[in-house]
Amino acid sequence: MKAAPVTTSFTDATRLPRLPADFVWGASTAAYQIEGAADEDGKGASIWDTFVRRPGAVRDGHTGDIACDHHHRFDEDVTLMRRLGLDAYRFSVSWPRVLPTGAGRIEPRGLDFYDRLVDALLGAGIEPVPTLFHWDLPQALEDEGGWLNRTTAHRFAEYAAVVAERLGDRVKRWITLNEPFVHMSFGYGFGVHAPGRALMLDALPVAHHQLLGHGLATAALRAAVPGGQVLIANNCTPVRLRHDARHDTDVAAASAYDALHNRLFNDPLLLGRYPDLSAYGMTDPSWGGIVREGDLATIAAPLDGLGVNYYNPTWVTAPADPAAALPFDLAEPAEPYERTAFGWPVVPDGLTELLTGLEARYGNDLPPVWITENGCSQPAGLHDRPRIEYLAGHIDAIARAVSRGVDVRGYFTWSLLDNFEWAEGYHQRFGLVEVDFTTRQRTPRASFEWYRDLIASQRS
Ligand code: NOJ
Repeated sequence: MKAAPVTTSFTDATRLPRLPADFVWGASTAAYQIEGAADEDGKGASIWDTFVRRPGAVRDGHTGDIACDHHHRFDEDVTLMRRLGLDAYRFSVSWPRVLPTGAGRIEPRGLDFYDRLVDALLGAGIEPVPTLFHWDLPQALEDEGGWLNRTTAHRFAEYAAVVAERLGDRVKRWITLNEPFVHMSFGYGFGVHAPGRALMLDALPVAHHQLLGHGLATAALRAAVPGGQVLIANNCTPVRLRHDARHDTDVAAASAYDALHNRLFNDPLLLGRYPDLSAYGMTDPSWGGIVREGDLATIAAPLDGLGVNYYNPTWVTAPADPAAALPFDLAEPAEPYERTAFGWPVVPDGLTELLTGLEARYGNDLPPVWITENGCSQPAGLHDRPRIEYLAGHIDAIARAVSRGVDVRGYFTWSLLDNFEWAEGYHQRFGLVEVDFTTRQRTPRASFEWYRDLIASQRS
């Protein structure tokens, strides 16, 4: 049985519920996924430049060397954004473009690029919202341990200050990190993303050092940009049990998973403490000396907003093998959900559940929420009705959460353009705009027109 398709009237952009008048409509991208120009203008190597050259690391050996060639075509991309009517554009700054070895010498041509991009956006009436770290760590810092090394947190704050001093006269809203959970688990835990370390639970210090970097960078941004706003973009997932798995052991597994994926990042930021990690054998509050005195106060510096990247819920059962390294098994949902081209289940009500769950857990400690990513991979082609249904369903899910009292301020769809989807290379297409990766030609899809109409109708 297939899930019922959404009705035509539902995907009619003008019929979606109205979000608040000042709601911000945006789109997201990230430097390594779109820029290309991998070694131009003095840019240093990032861990992704290294990782893509490891045989078997990325499907079909794809690399981000050219990607969408956005570095050379950003004017054309800003024109597309203007046609969409975006209020805001979330992009990321490539750390090694600005500081080729991660610290010390600044590359002026790197800063110049973001300067020009910011001016082009402002000229088009679009607010620039940079993310400072979207996974492309300078290789020189990885050579010293990367995020396993506490020093990287300090280097990150110095880098944040350099970028903020250059752009802070025009950029007011900043995002420090993108999805620190995914960077820790995929990059350092399982080794399927750069830097390709498979340390399993020994990757946990990467969580703390990223969060510490966030806290130190927050202070640097506040010093350099008076009146600026600081956010972080966390990947959050509602954790569900399979319908046939409701034993106490499954409930415990779901709670352990929630602690690792969601609370490990949200609790220190919003409550100033780490969740109970005893399911992972961690009972020492200092994590064996990793968490030092004062760190949690630095991490918990007030946020102006919590960015939430939502794609789908996660289903969990108790581990089949009680001696397994992890206290949960990931499971497939029992329900016959629609799937994206990536195979991810399409579950819009998971977003309402996530947002109302954040409100229930954090209450007054929850700052305004921004959906900093949401979207889906669909087959190549311009007639992407499933993408329209996906977006309509999720925007409707946000409206439901807002009507239940959750303060959501904006929505950034992932993504403006088809781009380099990490270990999947160019095989997953998330764009409102199709990119031909031979010619780099951009062609707006049906979803582009739909999103443009949605934004216009929300404003009228
Ligand atoms: C989250 C990441 O931030 C982004 O880089 C990625 O492309 C999308 N999810 C889709 O997987």
